[in-house]
Amino acid sequence: MSSPTYPIAPLLEQRWSPRAFKKDALTLQQIGSLLEAMRWSASCFNDQPWQVIVGSREYSPQAYQAIFNLLVPFNQTWCTPVPLLILTIARERFAHNHQPNPHAQHDVGMATTQLLLQAAGMGLSGHSMAGFDAPASYAAFNIPTNGEYTPMAVTAIGFQAPAEALSDAGMRERETAPRERNPLHSWAFGNTWGTGFTA
Ligand SMILES: Cc1cc2nc3c(=O)[nH]c(=O)nc-3n(C[C@H](O)[C@H](O)[C@H](O)COP(=O)(O)O)c2cc1C
Repeated sequence: MSSPTYPIAPLLEQRWSPRAFKKDALTLQQIGSLLEAMRWSASCFNDQPWQVIVGSREYSPQAYQAIFNLLVPFNQTWCTPVPLLILTIARERFAHNHQPNPHAQHDVGMATTQLLLQAAGMGLSGHSMAGFDAPASYAAFNIPTNGEYTPMAVTAIGFQAPAEALSDAGMRERETAPRERNPLHSWAFGNTWGTGFTA
């Protein structure tokens, strides 16, 4: 299944996670719009529990290199030309009462989706990664180690390049492979758990 069964919003259909990127830089204005999209995400109690380290090759090169160094070798291979790497971090306690926020990581995911969709709307591409050294992120960025902050993912953003730009043959093949999705009935349930909702 490489295309939606039911119609979805064009931006959702447009978004995907390429690995072939151009070296082209992003402007500060573009980076501002990407972060602004995260800012306007929904969150539990409007707590906005996302924190990010912005690694721009042009504007925050130290952070860029430090995030790049945290990536696993597979991700470093394809991220080399990417101009923007954003490390997302969840703040695990509510700002208003300092109680644990069990939805903090959910809300960082929500904000990251907005980041990815904003990128797609701007003609850019984004690709999130769990393949990075999360424990080493604390020392790399002086993230407090009091248990209140959790590094979640690194998201690469830039201009998509043709698949041929990838040096690795396996990656080139994956770049053009059909996109797979579980069928609706396998996870959207109706009256009883496990019974597929019939749309
Ligand atoms: C939290 C998260 C972690 C991911 N980690 C990696 C990763 O480390 N390396 C990678 O190449 N892709 C990674 N991906 C990309 C997924 O493989 C990709 O989103 C998935 O195959 C669906 O493809 P699509 O985004 O093009 O729809 C990750 C995606 C998410 C959301």
